Amino acid sequence: MLLALIAMTQALYSEPLRPQFHFTAQKGWLNDPNGLVFYEGEYHLFFQHNPFSTEWGNMTWGHAVSKDLLHWQQLPNAIEPDAKGTIYSGSAIVDHGNTSGLNADLIALYTAAGGKNDASKGQPFTQCLAYSRDKGRTWTKLDKPVINHIAAENRDPKVVWHAPSKKWVLALYLDGETFSLFTSPNLKDWTETQRLQMPGSNECPDFFEIPVAGSKDKKWIFTGANGRYWIGGFDGKVFRPEIAPMAVEFGAHNYAVQTYDNLKDRRVQIGWMNGGSFPNMPFNQQMTIPCDLTLLKTSDGLRLFRYPIAEIEKLWTGTSPIRIQQAPANETAPFSGSVPDSDLLDVEAEFEAGDKPTILHLSGYQVSYDPLAKTLTALGRTAYLAPEKGRIKLRVLLDRTSLEVFGNDGRVSLSTCKSPNSAPKNAFLSTPNPTTAKATARTLKSVWK
Ligand code: FRU
Repeated sequence: MLLALIAMTQALYSEPLRPQFHFTAQKGWLNDPNGLVFYEGEYHLFFQHNPFSTEWGNMTWGHAVSKDLLHWQQLPNAIEPDAKGTIYSGSAIVDHGNTSGLNADLIALYTAAGGKNDASKGQPFTQCLAYSRDKGRTWTKLDKPVINHIAAENRDPKVVWHAPSKKWVLALYLDGETFSLFTSPNLKDWTETQRLQMPGSNECPDFFEIPVAGSKDKKWIFTGANGRYWIGGFDGKVFRPEIAPMAVEFGAHNYAVQTYDNLKDRRVQIGWMNGGSFPNMPFNQQMTIPCDLTLLKTSDGLRLFRYPIAEIEKLWTGTSPIRIQQAPANETAPFSGSVPDSDLLDVEAEFEAGDKPTILHLSGYQVSYDPLAKTLTALGRTAYLAPEKGRIKLRVLLDRTSLEVFGNDGRVSLSTCKSPNSAPKNAFLSTPNPTTAKATARTLKSVWK
């Protein structure tokens, strides 16, 4: 009780468990990122929000804007529950050609979650449209759903423009592992063109075209909420996967991933870090660091890479080398400090895989590479990662309540929530071939100060 009182009297954004460079709601619950769209210099981040409690419920689209994807200003809630239901996940686009005739700056497609509030008892889940003529500040809903109920709790419409057919394409989650694609000339009248089963995935589809790095080719990517992805071709109606679903994310907490629309060939993805513990805080849950997605040719074929946006360099306040020591290290020896006393770090390390484990010790957390199993492990989660020319590269972002690890320039990531610990703030790399290893820690400034 006393703790709760102390927390309540703390100024917003300076609470002890407030992430310092990850997005959180000012107050209340947050889950999926929604309506990610760039418009006239602003990145919009709408999000599944309970404005009245730190638990899930009363789903509303919260809203924040940023000029750099890091410093966010939360605005009044954008789309609120009504007689069709609470407002579940969806997307937003810029209707450049005014195909809808709505003369809007931004158009959002979202799910009205029938039956999830008192006013919507007996109503089914439908897909609805809202538009804004003032850069997302206020929204007007169309009276009728644009896609009627199809199955179960069908939801999470994600819209993208398909230039060759001059049509909008909408990916929708139906039920089980089943998704649908629809097309429309005007965002209001939708025709279903395909049903797909994505093994191991459900909810929050994303669907977009992406260049193959270093070539003129482009491919279409389809992701489910857990970030598993298909690479394939799309003729404007039917998506044809060319590989079995793959994963880039292996951490415990990255869900409901969605990418920004209207950034030309850039694809920035944000996920909900679905977990963590925020006792006595006015808010609950956080987003991942925004990441650029790129499609690269590798020796295994095309793969999607996920890597923190370059904008994060603007938060760097200082650089210190990390002490490097012959493995296996005497791990009971106290770390002698080379890294400033900061709970916000951006670390880069590179080392020969060798024949013994390498461990990056970071303020009481460990990121380890096992060269025999070829696995990268952090906070109990493991990803397969083969060395590139015998070497492994790591990028690690440490915030108060998260640890995000990227292996070999984003070939794999491990995004996981954690609670602050009381270990000394320090860093040290223990590796079999120290003379050929490099490791640097950068301290970061808070985006809230
Ligand atoms: C995913 C999800 C979506 C739904 C939303 C409701 O986390 O279950 O499918 O639209 O959350 O908050």
